Amino acid sequence: MCSLKHTGAAYQKCINPDCGAEFDCGEVIFKCPKCGELLDAQYNWDKVPVPDRLSDFAKRWANRDNRLDFSGVWRFRELLDFCPDQHKVTIGEGQTILQQNCAIAEYLEMKADCLYLQYEGLNPSGSFKDNGMAAAFSHAMMVGAKSCACASTGNTSASVALYAHSCGLKCAVFIGSGRIAFGKLSQAMDYGAQTIQIKGDFDDCMRQVQAVCSKLGLYLLNSLNPFRLEGQKTIMYRIIEGLGWDVPDWIIVPGGNLGNSSAFGKAFYELKQLGLIERIPRMAIINATGADTLTDLVNNKKLIWNNGQVDQQIIDDYYADLTARNFSPHTCASAIEIARPVNLKKCLRSIDICDGIVRAVSDEEICDAKAIIGKYGLGCEPASAATIAGLKHLLAEGVVEKDQRVACVLTGHPLKDPNVTVNYHKEKQGQFSNPPIEAPNDLEQIIKLIQ
Ligand code: F0G
Repeated sequence: MCSLKHTGAAYQKCINPDCGAEFDCGEVIFKCPKCGELLDAQYNWDKVPVPDRLSDFAKRWANRDNRLDFSGVWRFRELLDFCPDQHKVTIGEGQTILQQNCAIAEYLEMKADCLYLQYEGLNPSGSFKDNGMAAAFSHAMMVGAKSCACASTGNTSASVALYAHSCGLKCAVFIGSGRIAFGKLSQAMDYGAQTIQIKGDFDDCMRQVQAVCSKLGLYLLNSLNPFRLEGQKTIMYRIIEGLGWDVPDWIIVPGGNLGNSSAFGKAFYELKQLGLIERIPRMAIINATGADTLTDLVNNKKLIWNNGQVDQQIIDDYYADLTARNFSPHTCASAIEIARPVNLKKCLRSIDICDGIVRAVSDEEICDAKAIIGKYGLGCEPASAATIAGLKHLLAEGVVEKDQRVACVLTGHPLKDPNVTVNYHKEKQGQFSNPPIEAPNDLEQIIKLIQ
């Protein structure tokens, strides 16, 4: 099963430095068959025609009738060169915008031109996942997969279902019963996925889907899949593009299964290694307090990457304690309601690369921040708003300075989770609630109400 030869420029490599086993990209493995650790996609860069400057990618805007140049993922294809063009899948993902938002900057008492919002909710399935799926489904097509599966808090299932039907793959999605926002559930069903609701939380689904995939030979689309994370690197390329090919001072991202934070750190590491950027921005990863494993492990248990020699005992003890307490995470930001993030070690590596920090914010702070993003921006789902809530903390602490350029990744569309939004406003749950006003069916009284 594990051939050691490489084809082309790309190969898979175990992240454990004591193992470091390498595998061909044609292998469908998802975890190192030798030591069980996570795998990366890696490249022999001297074999890849990488442009001299990132701004060279801008030329592709002129060829938007070429499907790969139109894709916000494949536009940067030399930086994720693991798959021949004929297998590359795209449904028009990555047409997302970086918006400078002065109103929210003022609310945060930052310098007005320093805050940027990267709206990944503008993707075809309404979340950042489509960046990853374009890449992972390309790999699935390259290896001839016929059926696929994922566990999900919602957005992965919606994105997988959409790409699976567009690629002609059978697909099963595993979701925790009662744990998924309605917008996302509606998408999975509408796009034709077999939707399996498991009596349990995301971590239970994640465990089951891995077992099912290895027993039935299904192609796994969670962020354990190293090719998926290659697609998610492009979110950072587009932020750099949005800043006129410059890097911000800070990237702020919500933390759930920790795929994004893992991919972002890798993106910056590679760009620096290739001489395409001069400095790596700092990264803040924001948990919800009801699902704060990363925050606890990093800030309290002092877990670090340590050149890949991560102290496994700290993690094992932590998870044993969660099990002993029968702990299940709870937050209104259901997308990040995860207690055992599968990409934990890759995320620790990103924290190391990006001089990263981790914070947790309450559901109340998330909902207030979401209302502000709705009022002054294009809106987002609860998990995405953890970024602005986290930024508020970091400004108060003086960790982020008022005149530093900050890019917050808004991971999902506001219509993903209308229930949280409606409850917040209608039930007057927060300081920015904007409830509907009851009016009689009478013209004069209606006019009086709106004057
Ligand atoms: N924001 C949204 C909207 C998400 O859907 C997710 C993850 C995250 C943030 C966290 O990203 O896992 O890369 O740290 N959603 C996954 C899912 C788990 O199944 O849809 P991460």
